[in-house]
Amino acid sequence: MFFYKLAMTALLANYVTALPQRGRTPGQKPSTPKSDYYISLGPRPYYLVNDMTPSPLKDRLESCENGPFSITDFSIGHRGGGTLQIPEATVESTTAGARMGAGVLECDVAFTRDRGLVCRHSLCDLHTTTNILLKPELAAKCSVPFTPANGTRPANALCCTSDITMAEYMTLCGKMDSFNASARNPQDYQFGTPNWRTELYNQCGSLMSLDSFITLVDSLPGHRSFTPELKTPPSTVPMPFNGYTQEQYASDMIEAFIRRGIDPNRVWAQSFNPPDVFLWINKYPQFGKHSVYLDEAGETPANFTAAVARLPSLAAQGVNIVAPPMQYLLTVGGPNNNTIVPSAYAIGARAAGLDIITWTIERSPPLARVAATRDYYYSTIASVIRRDGQLYEVLDVLARQVGIKGIFSDWSATVTYYANCFGLEGPVAADYKP
Ligand SMILES: *[C@@H]1O[C@H](CO)[C@@H](O)[C@H](O)[C@H]1NC(C)=O
Ligand SMILES: *[C@@H]1O[C@H](CO)[C@@H](O)[C@H](O)[C@H]1NC(C)=O
Ligand SMILES: *[C@@H]1O[C@H](CO)[C@@H](O)[C@H](O)[C@H]1NC(C)=O
Ligand SMILES: *[C@@H]1O[C@H](CO)[C@@H](O)[C@H](O)[C@H]1NC(C)=O
Repeated sequence: MFFYKLAMTALLANYVTALPQRGRTPGQKPSTPKSDYYISLGPRPYYLVNDMTPSPLKDRLESCENGPFSITDFSIGHRGGGTLQIPEATVESTTAGARMGAGVLECDVAFTRDRGLVCRHSLCDLHTTTNILLKPELAAKCSVPFTPANGTRPANALCCTSDITMAEYMTLCGKMDSFNASARNPQDYQFGTPNWRTELYNQCGSLMSLDSFITLVDSLPGHRSFTPELKTPPSTVPMPFNGYTQEQYASDMIEAFIRRGIDPNRVWAQSFNPPDVFLWINKYPQFGKHSVYLDEAGETPANFTAAVARLPSLAAQGVNIVAPPMQYLLTVGGPNNNTIVPSAYAIGARAAGLDIITWTIERSPPLARVAATRDYYYSTIASVIRRDGQLYEVLDVLARQVGIKGIFSDWSATVTYYANCFGLEGPVAADYKP
């Protein structure tokens, strides 16, 4: 007991001094961590390391088992960072990601009918990520109200943030993103989560406006950053929406941070839509210089080649950071053609002087299933993926060979463990010159 206390005291001292101090403007009050706030990683990283086949990487990761573990911007909380098990884009997922050491926390920014900005991955996923269909007065406002399955036709609904007001949105409960296609009533439609996730925390997850997300993340112990993602509304919400343009929406997202006096170096704005990124670069250079272009333009072999060829022109237009899905960065090669190596995209991005962030690890089924299920994130390396422990081999190629600056994760502990073991602190916003 005595030694335990001593060890905890040593860990605590280390934790406080190890907090990243970068990216803070002079004069700004440093956030003082609560002395009793510990980063907690839980059993999963140990399970993954234990499942690795023997290698120097396994030895290295085992040697880090007792930490110390501190917050790192290399670890980006995807839809909060607890998303593997906890309803996405909720206070609960975000505080879980924060507790697991994510230095950067995500809010996908959608808009409501009255132009309120809220955290939701898609403008039109309320029927699968919230309980809206169980609230008749709001369900009636859905773009496509619920229709039950009838033997030949699956159950259907389409509910968008733009169907309801911000006040109405805040009365909803967050749930795991799922639906039951056979449902004959809205109650049964709520289920259907894949069996490797869980519905354990489907207990009315707390939804967030962009503003309440800013308040939450700013109140967390330690230095934390924000990564708001501007959505490209689906064709079901044509823009401009009642006169609301994409440009105004892109500006409103940044203005929300300005209004709150948030240091631009704590904000990593992201978008899949190049004009949004160019708008930030030109109109808000303090934010734009380290905004993130999310690149999913390489979905077919021909488009992949075109996406690689386009990288220098993105850099020439002022983009400093690209964020493709992780399978764009990896391929199978080596002398026996059975090694995971950087792809032509990874090499091209580095050659163009671009920094790379990627997504999303811990979003896939158990890795033994990724080949059979044609999982998106492992699609370029599925032929050599067999077991869960390989997750850290994949992350190691991304970190040390591709040279990524950070990675989104549905379970932040997994990435925080690796990043602490290798001393990775993530990107530094102040390094990017407008
Ligand atoms: C199910 O609904 C579809 C579309 O409304 C209809 O064409 C079909 O006949 C229905 N099937 C049954 C078994 O009721
Ligand atoms: C899906 O819906 C059907 C029909 O309402 C129901 O019988 C079944 O139990 C539901 N499945 C789940 C997993 O809730
Ligand atoms: C490939 O690129 C073409 C031309 O830009 C585009 O029309 C098409 O949708 C792309 N395909 C995919 C699967 O992204
Ligand atoms: C290497 O393996 C990959 C994946 O199995 C395959 O697509 C590719 O054609 C192989 N390359 C060579 C040169 O054999």
